[in-house]
Amino acid sequence: MRKNEQKPFQSPYTHKKSGKIWLPKNYINFSKEKNRFILIIPQEFVTIEWNKNESCGFMENKNLIDLEAMSVEQLAKIVKKAKKIMQSPADYRHACDGKILATLFYEPSTRTQMSFQTAMLKLGGRTIGFDNPMNSSVSKGENLKDTISVISGYADIIAIRHPTEGTAMAASLYSEVPLINCGDGGHLHPTQTLTDIVTLSCEKGRLDHLKIGVCGDLLNGRTVHSLIKTLAKYEGNSFVLVSTPELCVPLYIIDILEKNGCAYEISNSLADAVTDLDVLYMTRIQRERFKSEEDYQAQKNVFVLDREKLDRAPQDMIILHPLPRVNEITVDIDDDPRALYFKQAQYGMFGRMALILLLLQDEDFLIPARETQVCDLRCNNPKCITRHEAYLPNLSYEKLGMRMCEYCDKRID
Ligand code: NCD
Repeated sequence: MRKNEQKPFQSPYTHKKSGKIWLPKNYINFSKEKNRFILIIPQEFVTIEWNKNESCGFMENKNLIDLEAMSVEQLAKIVKKAKKIMQSPADYRHACDGKILATLFYEPSTRTQMSFQTAMLKLGGRTIGFDNPMNSSVSKGENLKDTISVISGYADIIAIRHPTEGTAMAASLYSEVPLINCGDGGHLHPTQTLTDIVTLSCEKGRLDHLKIGVCGDLLNGRTVHSLIKTLAKYEGNSFVLVSTPELCVPLYIIDILEKNGCAYEISNSLADAVTDLDVLYMTRIQRERFKSEEDYQAQKNVFVLDREKLDRAPQDMIILHPLPRVNEITVDIDDDPRALYFKQAQYGMFGRMALILLLLQDEDFLIPARETQVCDLRCNNPKCITRHEAYLPNLSYEKLGMRMCEYCDKRID
């Protein structure tokens, strides 16, 4: 595209039914001037004159980076679709014939990668990808932008996991096809949350008015961050955050709870917390995210759900865990009817089938993007992708008068 190009603008993302144009996340609005948007197209700045009234889908896209942007109606649509698939999987056997999913896993995975692959195979599509970046050109020093630019020319949809915070957001800037965050460092894991809400909806019959205990590594556990952000959207949910002081949830998660008016308690006793919960969400201590082995050793095995503690819990409380389990739930609990973590992993596959279908086939299923600005400051979170991939633009958004990094959600000013 040439610089300063004017309308008519041919977007590959024209909504077929309404004729409206929506743009992927890589076209980022950073000018608030009326009728004028300055857009970033990878590595290039472009200005387009635009009539705001014609572009109501302007900020929407097909990338699932963070469930925060999704409305409860959209979440309900995913859950509903997942349930329909569960009821009659045969009806979906050819739903994605000819489509290709790329799974780019820069970090180990069992469930997320395989459930995405199985989901696509069950929909009639095929999969490509890597689960060890050292077997790809990453080992030769290829940057994220180049890998994504190439893969998005091969695949119809991309699922990516990476050890660095904000990577999925960064990758989405260079993807021509829908891109799904399968975990970015200790930041977020939105499709685990889809797994969790499908499970809650099927097993508890609701996503609201739940008292949820979350226990373990609440600082580094990305599943916890996505889960709290999402369940905070529903009325009447309250949280008991059980962790050591060192592994308490990040402040931005507390901000979200407060902004949404959710009741929450901070606790250091699993035995006390468990007596009055609808859901207990256990997580492992994230060894790979610690600075030293010594720090990890000090935190491991502090909270263990065993038979004695479970005996104090209500009979209708359910136990969830994103897995893998290390020691935080003793194996003798697996046969308790409240232990749903293996079933939860199966629900996840149906949630991912629903997500793939909605992203690839439902033109109306668009994910709203945040209003983002280019700023002078570079994020100084050492775990942020912007510290590792120098070409990335500095992008930020405003929250409660502060500038936050668009990639990793940490404060940058
Ligand atoms: C989680 C992850 O990768 O964040 N696993 C998963 O995807 N089910 C949880 C974890 O690794 O502890």
